[in-house]
Amino acid sequence: MIDVAAAVEGCAVDRGLDGYVADSLYPSNFHAAFAPPNIDAMLAQAGIASPRGPARRRPFTMVDIGCGDGVGLILNAAAHPEGHFIGIDGNPDHIAHGRAVAARVGLSNIDLASHYFADARAALPAGIADYVQCQGVLAWVGEANRGHVLALSAQLLKPGGVLAVGYNCLPGWTPILAFQQMLRALAAGIDGTPGERFEGGLAALRETGLFDAGHWEWIDGLRDHLPADYFAHEYLNANWTPLWSGAVLDAAAAYGLVPAGQARPGRLRPDFAFKAAWRKTLAAIASPAARECAADLLTGTWFRTDLFLKGAGRALAPAERDRARLAGWWAATQPADAVHFEARTSAGTIRFDNDAARAIVRALAGGPQPLGAIEGIGSADLFNAIDALFMAGAVVPVDPPADVPLAAATHAALLAMGAGAVNGCVGRHGVARIARGALADLDAENRGRLGI
Ligand SMILES: C[S@@+](CC[C@H](N)C(=O)[O-])C[C@H]1O[C@@H](n2cnc3c(N)ncnc32)[C@H](O)[C@@H]1O
Repeated sequence: MIDVAAAVEGCAVDRGLDGYVADSLYPSNFHAAFAPPNIDAMLAQAGIASPRGPARRRPFTMVDIGCGDGVGLILNAAAHPEGHFIGIDGNPDHIAHGRAVAARVGLSNIDLASHYFADARAALPAGIADYVQCQGVLAWVGEANRGHVLALSAQLLKPGGVLAVGYNCLPGWTPILAFQQMLRALAAGIDGTPGERFEGGLAALRETGLFDAGHWEWIDGLRDHLPADYFAHEYLNANWTPLWSGAVLDAAAAYGLVPAGQARPGRLRPDFAFKAAWRKTLAAIASPAARECAADLLTGTWFRTDLFLKGAGRALAPAERDRARLAGWWAATQPADAVHFEARTSAGTIRFDNDAARAIVRALAGGPQPLGAIEGIGSADLFNAIDALFMAGAVVPVDPPADVPLAAATHAALLAMGAGAVNGCVGRHGVARIARGALADLDAENRGRLGI
């Protein structure tokens, strides 16, 4: 067995991060799109077998490239004792923080290590990962590091393993390109912490009068609900570059990474996500890279979470795909009486107040269930209803239940980090996304529904 802990230990970090903000910690984050049950559900929808095979809760390995302080990965490690988790990040303070939290929890299935992307390929073994996740990195680093990240992903993945990569994209960020450049240029003349430089740059930019009220409503709105430490990392970063999806597809192809859809449900169903005229336009574009750019243009997309397979992956026959989907477990994200039975997609509002959707919502009110356990509704109606509920944000894919002996220790460690430190908690069905600050007082109703 490969001693990954030994391989990743002790890599000296002393060269800075190629223009990335390295003198403040990025906020601790759990990103639900990268959780194994979510990725598996999205692959099943696309007719692709899970890297874990048909039975969940089998041993697997997940690597997080640019894991920040690793707290999101720590939640996954506590919720999936059957898995092994490896996080790498070039900021040694991130890794020190994550290691301290993991030690406090008592986790033995996670390794966190300081590596520059440029060095990690030499330090890490090949073919170890079923899942690689990389969130908020590709559009925040320079071109050479983008290549390192994709090459590292391809090296780490087993054949049929999946890379989930989240990045800022165009055309959505177009109105912000000049705003970020100006803010960063103005902040460059200011001393202080990254937070102080961001605030100073923002105040100086406001003074210039260069940007209209819409820009200020937008950034002030974000400042109301995102952690303060996020902003310097987004706006003071030298290589910040929203990307065209087609360019990402082409770059990934050079490393043998094959597109397999997306990890977030916004584009789960073309018939829900695209107007009929858009579907016609897209169908007439032969090049996958051009088609993805066109889809982003039509929908004004600003963030993507793309899935890529190492090699072709295993395609599911239609009957096998249906079985996989019926075997998939789901949890409700909100109380039954809060569900509106409508989803806002880029094509408009979809209304789906029907027997199948109501039966699913009723069944999940008591806790997570496999889709196939919902009685009295045909599978075609179940699939339509679960897709619509997923796109509406009313349900999320989860795993079958398992013992998670370190759940209480994980929550104690998170609470010790401070109120609002993180947006997830560990349950028998995986990690549940919760609001920052909600962990301290989750009531019995919420716990039962989320399987915590
Ligand atoms: C925007 S943060 C995202 C963190 C985490 N993935 C999340 O989404 O919460 C980008 C991360 O990439 C790391 N990073 C940036 N450039 C790097 C490089 N050249 N080598 C290694 N890590 C780097 C940073 O330290 C930071 O933790």
